[in-house]
Amino acid sequence: MTDPVQTPIGVEPIGAEPIGAEPIGVAVLGMGNVGAEVVRILTDNAADIQARVGAPVVVRGVAVRDLTVPREGVDPALLTDDAAALVTRADIDIVVELIGGIDLPRTLIRQALEAGKSVVTANKALMAAHSGELSDAAARNRVDLYFEAAVAGAIPVIRPLTQSLAGDSVNRVAGIVNGTTNYILSEMAETGADYSDVLAEAGRLGYAEADPTADVEGYDAASKAAILASIAFHSRVTADDVYREGITKITPADLAAAAKFDCTVKLLAICERLNDGGTESISARVYPALIPLEHPLATVNGAFNAVVVESENAGRLMFYGQGAGGAPTAAAVMGDLVMAARNRVYSGRGPLESTYASLPIASIDDVQTRYYVAMKVADRPGVLAQVAGEFALNGVSIAAMRQEGAGDEARLTIVTHRAADRAQSETVAALEQMDTVIKVSSVLRMEGTNE
Ligand code: NDP
Ligand code: HSE
Repeated sequence: MTDPVQTPIGVEPIGAEPIGAEPIGVAVLGMGNVGAEVVRILTDNAADIQARVGAPVVVRGVAVRDLTVPREGVDPALLTDDAAALVTRADIDIVVELIGGIDLPRTLIRQALEAGKSVVTANKALMAAHSGELSDAAARNRVDLYFEAAVAGAIPVIRPLTQSLAGDSVNRVAGIVNGTTNYILSEMAETGADYSDVLAEAGRLGYAEADPTADVEGYDAASKAAILASIAFHSRVTADDVYREGITKITPADLAAAAKFDCTVKLLAICERLNDGGTESISARVYPALIPLEHPLATVNGAFNAVVVESENAGRLMFYGQGAGGAPTAAAVMGDLVMAARNRVYSGRGPLESTYASLPIASIDDVQTRYYVAMKVADRPGVLAQVAGEFALNGVSIAAMRQEGAGDEARLTIVTHRAADRAQSETVAALEQMDTVIKVSSVLRMEGTNE
């Protein structure tokens, strides 16, 4: 005789037996780039998902803003514009939040958790701002809150950090976590395409946020850095704790200059555990940086993302894949949904937030890295020595210097050895006061080299 419900492959039941083959009811909030793909996968893969979960997983409602928009692939009877009523309905077990923004999803997720529903979300802005409150609500109500899709699209990085590396000590998590900006920088570097044309294309391809300022000014990457730093270092880090610069000031001249130093420019998110004489702190920062062409992150192009994790015993791990777009992100959402559904079937729960370490946040001033500084200078004898002297005065050692053009067009680019950020900013402030320096046009960090 066969079991009415087969144990899904790879599942360790927490209870002795599945509670039963009762269908798991799902509410999907939002049917945009990601939500539409989640509904499609749930429909197309229903039989496999049922076999993996041990019960049918059934969409019981889909909330949208505008009911007049025609929607393919969903029974119109499931559509509603009343998300608040949907999330607490008795036939809903799991709420999948794919609306975006902060205030509305925060309220809806709180209501769902308090009503005993598990929640899956791709919302990094929300998790970076309010993970504490939402995790507490999930713990209190003994339900799951999963958010794998919130960082780096399809790439599994939350689960490896919270589960696979749960017994190790992570020292650094760094990489490219925003698909839109990586797509823009790659296109600009490879084809010389215009910034605003490429940004518009990223929107059409479903990579960009509803307000793409979040992408290009680095807010989206800062939210992801906050989430990564929180889980990697067992401390609560919010987006406000992350030092942030976007890519809007990067010019074709910077990309060309980077190429002359055998580098390319990428928007990086870097989360590090710092140790100053035994006192530990966290540095979390997002900025465009030059990286050498031979560095593994230099070959990550288009909307692809990559995250490098360095931990004490595992060493260096690299995760690579599609960082944005409807279907790749929906794949990560589906992984969480299947986990949450299995937990329902077997009366289990996923890991809770861990913030026991409570490490303080370090100031960007104390971070050590290398710098690229580009400036327009007067083309006359002694200027190079004057400029170099200012770097020396602040204890910043120059590694390479290049001058191009002449007269009013003279452009000086300098790459430094490692120095504290405070020393760099004091140097630049002093350069801006010099009458031989017409303009400091760019200051970028250089990562991925140890000189
Ligand atoms: P979209 O803007 O494409 O879709 C948002 C959906 O939410 C739309 O269907 C919209 O309805 C619906 N919506 C808006 N307001 C309400 C409301 N008041 N009630 C009910 N529904 C509402 O967003 P995405 O799919 O691109 O992104 C969704 C989430 O996933 C965001 O948090 C985003 O940051 C995150 N994410 C996105 C990725 C991507 O590549 N796109 C990757 C990783 C995460 P309507 O259709 O009627 O306008
Ligand atoms: N706008 C985001 C990006 C979506 O471009 O990476 C994925 O989180």
